[in-house]
Parts: sequence; C-alpha cells; structure tokens
Amino acid sequence: MQNNLQQAFGNIDIYLFDQLLKGRFDDCKTVLDAGCGAGRNLVYFLQHNYTVYGVDQSAEAIAAVKQLSGMLAPDNKKSNFSIGGVEDMPFADGSFDLVICSAVLHFAHNAQHHDSMVRSLWRVLKPGGYLFARLASDICIENLVHSTGNGRYLLPDGSERFLVNQETLLKYSHELNGTLCEPIKTTNVQNLRCMTTWVLTKN
Ligand SMILES: C[S@@+](CC[C@H](N)C(=O)[O-])C[C@H]1O[C@@H](n2cnc3c(N)ncnc32)[C@H](O)[C@@H]1O
Repeated sequence: MQNNLQQAFGNIDIYLFDQLLKGRFDDCKTVLDAGCGAGRNLVYFLQHNYTVYGVDQSAEAIAAVKQLSGMLAPDNKKSNFSIGGVEDMPFADGSFDLVICSAVLHFAHNAQHHDSMVRSLWRVLKPGGYLFARLASDICIENLVHSTGNGRYLLPDGSERFLVNQETLLKYSHELNGTLCEPIKTTNVQNLRCMTTWVLTKN
C-alpha cells in the first residue's frame, strides 16, 4: 500500500519536489512534461488541477501516462498526451506556464539535436513561465568522461550521453533571455555520472 507522500507525489524527481516545496509553480496552470515517460513527475500536477500535457517519442510511455492521467485526473484530456519528439512539438508558441524536461536532453544525438530540443522547450514556454530541466553534465567529472564525438561521452557508469557543462547552460540562459531561478546545481553520483538541475524563467 502507498503511503500518503507517495500518493501525493509519486516517484517525483527530488529536485522538482524541491521547486514545489519552494512554491515556485504555485501560480502555474498549464504544465508540459517533454519526454514525460510514464509520468512519474506528473502525479502532483494531475491531482492539483493543473492542465497537464505530455510528449514522448515512446508509444508505450504515452499509453502509460494516459492511463495515469485518466486515473488521477479524469477531466484532464487524454489527447493532451502525444507521441512525438521534443524537438518538434505540436504546440503553439507560449503555450505553457511550466515546461518540465527531466532526464531527456542527454539522449540528444549531437549538438544540433540538443539545440533544437532546448529551443523547442523554450518556444512553447509563456513569458514569465518556468523551464525545469534535469540533464547529465560533465561538471565535476570532466577528467573521467571520454568523448565519442558529436558532444557525446562515455561515462564511468558505462552509459553514453550527450553532456553539457556550466558554460553551455549559462550561455543558453543568456541567449534565450532567461533568468536562472537559482544557481545551477549538480549531483555527483559517486563519480559515475553527474546530473544537473537547470531552472529558468522566461523574460
Ligand atoms: C529516462 S526517461 C525519463 C522520463 C521522465 N521524464 C522521467 O523523468 O521519469 C527518458 C524519456 O525520454 C524520452 N525521449 C528521449 N528522447 C526523446 C526525444 N527526442 N523526444 C521525445 N522523447 C524523448 C524517452 O522515450 C523516455 O521516455
């Protein structure tokens, strides 16, 4: 049986949970999870009257998130969830108060793919809205990763990922005319991989 916290938040990313605790998204109404998977980060939003959308390239993931949405928020339209690429989303500019992209950007095939995903996330965000991204980086493990080309690296955990660094994220923040909601924070998982949290608001 689930405890109360699990019922309220599911298996939410701890850094997204941190933003919720800070009240960052209290005034948001429309939420997009880009690369939503089965929707583990959407449990809270679905249960608190947000209008929730999701995109994922995996048909299985979209079937699972539709089921979750139907169970937790029957009024949230299942058609809000669609199969597709983050780089090419079927939404008008400025559609969402909050765009979540958790553990997705590091699957980019190369710098151009990564760039098109970041710009697509930003395009669908309303002015004043928030982008919450978690992504793999080489911050703190620069000497432990090995380039395989195209911006991708072999990590000590054996995975191959597209990696960013602090400079890249600060450059994007500036170029996109975004403001960091807080400093860029990185979790070093025992020198095996590093996951960075990047939270921006759109000016
Ligand atoms: C590690 S899972 C993360 C799922 C979810 N965001 C979470 O935090 O639990 C990565 C997800 O990103 C999706 N994905 C990867 N690249 C994508 C892309 N270019 N467009 C859409 N979905 C993508 C995969 O299908 C998968 O569901």
